Amino acid sequence: MIDLHSHILPGIDDGSKDINETIEMARLAVSEGIKTIICTPHYIQYNEPYNKKQVELLIVETNERLISEGISLNLVAGHEIYMTPDLPKLVQDGEVATLNNSKYILIEFPMNDIPLYAEDVFYELRLMGLVPILAHPERYPMVMEDPNSLLKFLKLGVLCQANVGSIRGFFGERVQKTVIKLIEHNMIHFIATDAHGPKRRSPKIGGALEVIKQLDPQLAEQLFYENPLKVYQNEEINPPKPIEVIKKGFFASLFSRKQR
Ligand SMILES: [Fe+2]
Repeated sequence: MIDLHSHILPGIDDGSKDINETIEMARLAVSEGIKTIICTPHYIQYNEPYNKKQVELLIVETNERLISEGISLNLVAGHEIYMTPDLPKLVQDGEVATLNNSKYILIEFPMNDIPLYAEDVFYELRLMGLVPILAHPERYPMVMEDPNSLLKFLKLGVLCQANVGSIRGFFGERVQKTVIKLIEHNMIHFIATDAHGPKRRSPKIGGALEVIKQLDPQLAEQLFYENPLKVYQNEEINPPKPIEVIKKGFFASLFSRKQR
């Protein structure tokens, strides 16, 4: 399995604190069947982030350490880029890394709001031949409130990645319900760990994989394995058409509540 969202690199963001935690996370990932991790440290403009070159150098160093520890896990470069109007320029300047040098680029929104300029930035990135992947939409309050707020982005060719922790309920019941709803409505294209450490938010996929397998085994295969591999190999992904979420009317929701 390829994990396309992980904060396993040591000491550069709110993920792994040091090389010891990185090694612990790497061992856990291998035990979960993960063979490659696309390292996606946060890139927050004006917050002294590690740029593409620095991330690549740290990966060479960390891979060497993993080899010397006898851990067969391959780390490759990426970023989780905090949405900014300058994003297209950051790509052009070679400041930020796409996922394993592919056309796929991982982007996160601020937790409290979807920026008004997001649509323009996505549009510009698409014109540049890139495919934006929105990180964990199920965690954004505006998406929880109205899952259809993703439709305008999906229409532009944006893909979405959900977290294993959301499926397992680590971020609360509302996030958990939202992620299942998004998956059922073809609005999620990848599931990744978004691992931050060896204990809390660890690189485990078991549990979440079982839940999605029960929902639809073929879909589980696509979200956990096939689509992340396509990103890694820079291959085309043709997502199914998203299905609009129809909000239940007052009487319908009252009725379904009585049925429980
Ligand atoms: Fe992340």
